[in-house]
Amino acid sequence: TAGPDLAGRHVVVSAGGTREPLDPVRFLGNRSSGKQGYALARTAAARGARVTLIEANTGLPDPAGVDVVRVGTAVQLREAVLKAAPDADVVVMAAAVADFRPETYATGKIKKKDGQDPEPIVLVRNPDILAEIAADRPRPEQLVVGFAAETDDVLANGRAKLARKGCDLLVVNEVGERKTFGSEENEAVVLGADGSETAVPYGPKEALADTVWDLVVHRLG
Ligand code: C5P
Repeated sequence: TAGPDLAGRHVVVSAGGTREPLDPVRFLGNRSSGKQGYALARTAAARGARVTLIEANTGLPDPAGVDVVRVGTAVQLREAVLKAAPDADVVVMAAAVADFRPETYATGKIKKKDGQDPEPIVLVRNPDILAEIAADRPRPEQLVVGFAAETDDVLANGRAKLARKGCDLLVVNEVGERKTFGSEENEAVVLGADGSETAVPYGPKEALADTVWDLVVHRLG
């Protein structure tokens, strides 16, 4: 593995998946385990970086030598990222952020009523944290890395997303049955805004993490 090539750098990594509450006992969530984000945090620390890990609902133990910030919802994740980002050389958005949240939060548990149809759940958009950070960088030389899970036309969709989000690197995963979520392994293509394309074969999430940091170190110069 690499030497301390991230020494003196501060990296911010988000991991896990947001939960958007409907009432005190229910939420809309997703299948992200947080393992890829944790692998990014561990490998960055091993390469000498100061690491801020913003985690949402992973239940994973804190990695040694990493500052951990715990959040629940997309709005909380955005606040934590915006707070940490001004001091960061690199921001990696590995968390699965809910695109939508329920418009209203019921302070009491939503009850079923005999003979009545359920109330529809109305959703509103969550802020796109990655696009916001990439568009409005607190430091001009800061690098912003996103993730994308795609089920089809993986490369074409990835390229379009990279442009839309305005990030420097986009790690594109093909997702499907048994793939990626909760697994210890991953397979991806890392797309660069400079047109680069780096295929990472199926293997441990640490290996993909190290490839991301290799590409970051190269671009930090
Ligand atoms: O648009 P999509 O959800 O596929 O984009 C995935 C990437 O964007 C991930 O890096 C994710 O962390 C980030 N994202 C975000 N805010 C959102 C939705 C996604 O930062 N509301």
